[in-house]
Amino acid sequence: MQKVVLSLGGSVLIPSLESNTILRYVPVLREVGASCRLFIVVGGGGEARRYIGASRALGIDEASSDEVGITITRLNARLLLGALGASAYPRVAQDYTDAKEFGETGKIVVMGGVTPGQTTDTVSAVLAECVGADVLINTTSVDGIYSADPRKDPAAVRFPTLTPRQLSEIVRGERLNAGSNSVFDLVAAKVIERSGIPLIVFDGKNPENLRSAIFRGEFVGTVVSEEKKSPLPLGR
Ligand code: UTP
Repeated sequence: MQKVVLSLGGSVLIPSLESNTILRYVPVLREVGASCRLFIVVGGGGEARRYIGASRALGIDEASSDEVGITITRLNARLLLGALGASAYPRVAQDYTDAKEFGETGKIVVMGGVTPGQTTDTVSAVLAECVGADVLINTTSVDGIYSADPRKDPAAVRFPTLTPRQLSEIVRGERLNAGSNSVFDLVAAKVIERSGIPLIVFDGKNPENLRSAIFRGEFVGTVVSEEKKSPLPLGR
């Protein structure tokens, strides 16, 4: 059975606690979980940013503020896990060994952050390497990787395909702060470069995008792989 690591950005799943879209994702996640081994990494979203802001305002250092962010990603993961019910392993994986072990049950595995100094981009890239994933899917609120932040720069262009090396070059030089909103972690890009696992980045705000990408191979986004070719749809 193919293995898929899916990084669900907090901005997609939980822009704020009240505006969470978890229930809209449950049917498609169950469908995906029934046709492959599915590992989901959940981001922090707006609540993580608010907590990190409060932490910083208290004079708490960046690494400790990251820990606050990790706690929120795990809380979000717990909400998704509960909503998935019997389809998911009933504990949030705290590390990669947990995730591998929980995955042996065949259930959907859900986890959040792991360690300060990174975001869930890195968690999902490392997890993909640890479980030997066939593909890493990263859904965010932007439809791919751009030459600049498309929300700020109207001249920004989306890259339909990139090699892992090109991805590393694009993200190099970005600042990393707790709650920072960079396009992709440099460490994640490096891990993707060494693992050779193809990465797909697309806009996940509509759960239908997930369905059509995974089952039909149709999506608007960025494919990062040496061959610049998408491994989707699954089972091809
Ligand atoms: P996210 O991965 O959600 O970061 O983790 P993000 O860049 O805000 O992602 P989007 O916008 O939701 O897609 C939230 C915060 O939690 C901490 C970091 O401070 C991060 O900014 N974190 C997360 C860690 O320190 N380590 C981790 O492994 C994961």
